[in-house]
Amino acid sequence: MKRLLVVWHTQFGATDQLARAAIAGARQAGGIEVDARRANEAGVDAVLDADGYLFAGSENFGGLAGTVKDFFERVYYPCEGRLEARPWTAIVCAGNDGSGALRDLDRIATGLRLRKAVPAFVYRSGIVARAHTVPAEALDRARDLGATIAAGIEAGLY
Ligand SMILES: Cc1cc2nc3c(=O)[nH]c(=O)nc-3n(C[C@H](O)[C@H](O)[C@H](O)COP(=O)(O)O)c2cc1C
Repeated sequence: MKRLLVVWHTQFGATDQLARAAIAGARQAGGIEVDARRANEAGVDAVLDADGYLFAGSENFGGLAGTVKDFFERVYYPCEGRLEARPWTAIVCAGNDGSGALRDLDRIATGLRLRKAVPAFVYRSGIVARAHTVPAEALDRARDLGATIAAGIEAGLY
């Protein structure tokens, strides 16, 4: 069975809510395994064993959250040249921007020669460094994103 790896990190809980919605969407789509891991629990084996990826993290200081970067820094060179064209997408959780985190993800994924199969979802909360409840529309977008990449992997579209 094909496998989607979801890797995420959260500090204040918003990315967590979005990642869990995406995981639920991917599981509901059916037909593939969903390996859901916090960024600090994801490593080279999980990356190599997956057929596609959904990365989720916040934008901090104009770039990708450090814990997600740490994940990429650990897996990048061991995985380099071994993931050619595998599909990916992402969720970026931001206060008011998100473009810096997206740029970091695009750059890393390009280096790994991954293929961006579905455009990333950038959720801008307007709330900085505080816990809040993510609105239902944003959770729906995340759920749809998870379902879309899962269905595409299962169908061999990418
Ligand atoms: C140290 C720090 C730096 C941040 N820098 C940015 C930023 O550059 N751009 C932005 O849009 N939001 C920024 N934020 C807001 C976070 O992206 C926002 O709080 C997000 O909801 C955090 O995700 P989480 O709830 O999953 O931890 C920053 C937050 C923190 C704590």
